[in-house]
Formats: sequence, structure tokens, C-alpha cells
Amino acid sequence: MPQGFFLTFEGLDGSGKSTQLRKLAQWLEARGEPFLVTRQPGGTRIGDRIRALLLDSRTEALSPMAELGLMFSDRAQSIAEVIRPALDAGQIVLCDRYTDSTEAYQGGGRQLGSEIVRQLHEVMCGGLDPDLTLLLLPDFRRSLERARRRNHRAVTQSAKDEGRFESEDESFYRRVFDQYCEIARREPLRVVAIESDEEIERIHERIVSIVEARLAHRA
Ligand code: TYD
Repeated sequence: MPQGFFLTFEGLDGSGKSTQLRKLAQWLEARGEPFLVTRQPGGTRIGDRIRALLLDSRTEALSPMAELGLMFSDRAQSIAEVIRPALDAGQIVLCDRYTDSTEAYQGGGRQLGSEIVRQLHEVMCGGLDPDLTLLLLPDFRRSLERARRRNHRAVTQSAKDEGRFESEDESFYRRVFDQYCEIARREPLRVVAIESDEEIERIHERIVSIVEARLAHRA
């Protein structure tokens, strides 16, 4: 049986990572690779409830530590229910956000620091690290504007309100961005940073060549 492969996508809200994840999934499908797509927070029934609590902008006065704990509770459920079984069955797991998001948003953005996030990762995730992380880092300001536009559309066009993070100020997002850069510097083998404002198709091609090379190594 082929070994599973754990691939995560990371980046600021509005960085285009979800679009790239979808395109990569289509590419894997066309190649006939067994794969599964999930996201955090969410991706399980329990996780979807945690997600609603975390992202709803009506959730007020959630302490940063409680937020941190909920992110890891969601992740532990996702590992137990989705990620671990899929990897054990030899599948490629594409996950939209994982522990790097917690280090960037709660560690950096909320200023809880990296250390506590790394410690919780060891305990709550059994140290399960991705085989590869694609970190999309287009221009900071463009990401921010896209995220705000998207959130405004979502709030006005549907009943779903997932804007609690998008309403944070620019300095919060600057810290998130800087923490992502720090993670990429610290773990150059696992994390491939794509600092690009090229068009969607060009970035997709770059991602495909990176993933193809890593998958070839897996066997
Ligand atoms: P989502 O709608 O999935 O955003 P995106 O499409 O931009 O990925 O919302 C996830 C939000 O939750 C996003 O603003 C980042 C935040 N988040 C954290 O703060 N910590 C985490 O550990 C994770 C997984 C997400």
C-alpha cells in the first residue's frame, strides 16, 4: 500500500490558498491519486460546531487562551476522525490550514507566542506534522483587501457570518504575516513559501511541480 502524504495549505485570509487547494485537488483527481480534502477549523461534525463558535463575529469576549484551546480541540478531532485514518489508508490529505495557522494567528496575531503553540501541538496532535506545507504569501495589502471584500459579500449575501477574524485590524494581520515568514525560515524543508502575485494558473503550475517532485520521493 502506498504511504499516505499530508499536505497543508497556509496563508492569510485572501491569499488565494483555497482556490489553489481546489485546483490541486482537481489535478490529483485527474491523475487518479487517492486523496481527501479537509479544512480547519471544521471538517468534522464536532469541528463544524467549534468553527461556528470561533468564526461568528457575534462571539464576543472569547479569551485568547480559550480560542487557542478550541483551535486545538478542533484539530484533535480532525486528526482522530479524518486525517489519521486517511493517512493510514495511504491517501493524500489536503488540509486547508493546520497548526501553522495557530502559530501565526494565536501565537503571532494574538501574541500568545510560538512556544505554547508548539507545546500544545506535541500534546494534542501527537506531533503529527505535515509532509509538505504550501504557504501562499502574496502582497500583504492585496490579501487584506481581498479578505475584507469577500467577508463583506458573505455577510450581505448569506445568513452565515464568519467574519470574526477578518474584522481584526491591520497590525494583527501584520503580526500573522511576520509569524508565517518566521515559520518558513525555521522549517525550509517542510514549508515552501510562494511569494507571488502571479496569476492563478501560473501559481498552480508551480504548485504542481513542487507536489509532483515530493510525491515521487514518497515511494
Ligand atoms: P476560513 O473561513 O477558513 O478562512 P480562510 O478561507 O481565509 O482560510 O476561516 C478561518 C479563520 O480562522 C481564519 O481567519 C484564520 C483563523 N484560524 C486561526 O486563527 N487559528 C487556527 O488555528 C486556524 C486553523 C484558523
